[in-house]
This record gives sequence, C-alpha cells and structure tokens, in this order.
Amino acid sequence: MTFCEFLSKIDRPIRKSLVSSFPFLACFVYSNGRKFFLKKLIEERPEQVELPAELAREFWGIKFRSPLFNAAGMFKDGKGYELAGLQGAGAFLAGTVTPEPRKGNACKGVRHPFLPFPLSVSSSNWMGLPNPGLKAVLNVLKTIEKKPGVPLGLSLASDSDSLSDLETFVRALYRVEDSNIDFIEINESCPNVQHSGRDYSSLDEKFVARMEYIAKNFLRQSKRNLPVIVKLSNDFAIEFVPNLIDLLLELGYDGLNFGNTSTNYKEISVLINPAEKNAYDFFVSNFGGGVSGIPLKNRSYALTEAAGKYLRTKSLRGEFHIIRTGGITSYKDIQQSQSVGVSLFQWFTGYFAYFEKFGHRLYKEFFI
Ligand SMILES: Cc1cc2nc3c(=O)[nH]c(=O)nc-3n(C[C@H](O)[C@H](O)[C@H](O)COP(=O)(O)O)c2cc1C
Repeated sequence: MTFCEFLSKIDRPIRKSLVSSFPFLACFVYSNGRKFFLKKLIEERPEQVELPAELAREFWGIKFRSPLFNAAGMFKDGKGYELAGLQGAGAFLAGTVTPEPRKGNACKGVRHPFLPFPLSVSSSNWMGLPNPGLKAVLNVLKTIEKKPGVPLGLSLASDSDSLSDLETFVRALYRVEDSNIDFIEINESCPNVQHSGRDYSSLDEKFVARMEYIAKNFLRQSKRNLPVIVKLSNDFAIEFVPNLIDLLLELGYDGLNFGNTSTNYKEISVLINPAEKNAYDFFVSNFGGGVSGIPLKNRSYALTEAAGKYLRTKSLRGEFHIIRTGGITSYKDIQQSQSVGVSLFQWFTGYFAYFEKFGHRLYKEFFI
C-alpha cells in the first residue's frame, strides 16, 4: 500500500466525523490537506494498469485508451501525467490555467476554500481558479513523455471578459497550438471568479460574443488538428441545449462538456446527507462556491442526453463530441450515457471516492 492509499483510507472516518461536527475546522483542514495530498499523489509511481482493449476510443483522430479521465482542477499546474498514465486514465487534462497567474480566493483565514461531504459523495469549493499561469504550465507539459492512448488536454479560461483579456486569451490559444497539447477545453463556467454579470444558465449575449470572437480569431485560423471543447455549467437550462449546439456547430467548435459545478444550492441541499447539512449550509453561507459530485449526476445525465439526442438530428461537417462531467461514479451510468450519444467522461469527486476504496487500481475497478 502506498502512502496516499494509506492516508486516504485512514482519513475516511476522521473526515466523516470532522465534517459533520466541526465544519469550519474541517474546511480549514481539507482546504490545506487536499493540496498536500495531491502533491504527494502525483509523486507516486504505482504499477502500470492495463485496461481491456475494447474500452479504447478514437475521436477527432486522437486515440483515447478509455473514455474516462480526470476533470479540470485536479492537476492545475500540469503535474501528474505520469501518474494518470500508470493508473489507466483515458487522457490527462491539465488546468484550468489562465494566461496570467492567479492567486485564487481566500476568506476567513482559509485559502482556496474546499469542503468534502463524504457521506453525500459531494464537495463544495470556492477556490477561484488559482494557477501559476500558462507559461509555467506549458513549461511543465513540454517535458511530458506522452503514452499512446493517453492524450494531453489543457483547460483554459480567460482572465476576465474585457476585450483586452479576450485578445490575450486568443494569443494564449496560439501558444497552445505551438505546444504538444492534443485538445483544449475552454472553461466557460467557473462560478468562483468575478466575471461581471455572466449567466451560466443560458445563452447570454456576452457568452455568444466571446464564442464568436474566439471562433473568428482562432478556430478559423488554426493550422493543426487541435479540437476545442467548451465546458459549461451543469446549471445550464436544458431548453437552450439545441440553440447552444447550433451555435457551437456553426462556429466550428469540436465538442461540449456538461459540466462544471453547480450553484443551485436549494435544489442540491435535498441531495446532501442530513448529517452533512450543517457543513453544507456553513460553506454556502460563508463562501458560496460550486457543488460537485453525486448531486450533479442527474443534471449531467439529462443535459448530455438532450445534447446527444439533438446532435443526432444534425448532419455534421466534421466531428462534434459530447463530454459528460458531474457525479460519474459507475460504469453502468456511463454505458447508459454512451447509448444516447455521449463520447467521453470526466470525473473529480468520483475519482477520489474510488481512490479511497481501490487506491491506484481505481480505473481498472471502475470498468469491471
Ligand atoms: C476542488 C475543485 C476544483 C475544481 N477546479 C476546476 C477548474 O479549475 N476548472 C474546471 O473547469 N472545473 C473545476 N472543477 C469542477 C470539476 O472539474 C467538475 O466539473 C465538477 O467537480 C463536477 O464533477 P464531479 O461531480 O465528478 O466532481 C473543480 C472541482 C473541484 C471539486
């Protein structure tokens, strides 16, 4: 058993009682503890896991060893590819990174607030996209020795909505084009940053304008096969899914990911285990933030099902793929999604829930 496998196991009972009984202390401990844990985790070198060949996929001419890999935010500074490759991940997604470094949020003496709700297989975070900036992350990624079937993705977000930041963002996309990155995910849905007036639940004018600007100034000029996926919120209103797909197809985007964390606190509250309600309310009233995990399962399923169904009615010029993120914890669940047209899957909360049970064999166990 490795250090992180051991730590994850012994922490479970502690976490359960700390979160239920002392939310502020738990928030302080796990906001710091998760960084320590991740730092140790990416240094571990478990035995190589082999997955059944029938799990392999090819989308946009890129080979994925399986359809499941980490969601953005786990490997923010780009370190961890080797670990993901050994564990059996279908790809490696670095970031979210912004063109310039970001310190992220701090409040009430807690830096990058995060609180797990283990009984609910959920968590809240209000980290605010801390990252060392694109230049530093590209420097890490360029040293990676890529493995066949484990493509390298990068999640990117703009620093703000201003035109000058949008120009900087497009320049960042060109820097990514010149790198070893295989696909880009544009994070259009972080609820924890101050983006004036963004509405994550509909096709607001500002979003459409940003998508058009990026399409005109990057997608149509790009010189190599570099699929660009847009990640939206799991709070996105389902009735706008067809309009969203029409927009992204018309502009030449390559895929859509539903999605990011939720701020539908009331709706989610009923899905939180009663023993963790106090902790949940503590986090929401002090930080707000975005909720992850099982409470998003039905939303991410319904949104991607609607997207998959609508996509089937369209005649496509190239490939466009739907990616599902939010409450992924079972193979059966993703098989059901695949049958309605979902191509790829990302997990964050489920990854740690599986790690706690199965350690580094988590991907193998997931697909059994
Ligand atoms: C601590 C934490 C940090 C996150 N950071 C990011 C991020 O940097 N970029 C992003 O697009 N999503 C981020 N997310 C959202 C996840 O990528 C994912 O969309 C969300 O957690 C739902 O998936 P899950 O239910 O499997 O956790 C973060 C989530 C958590 C819990």
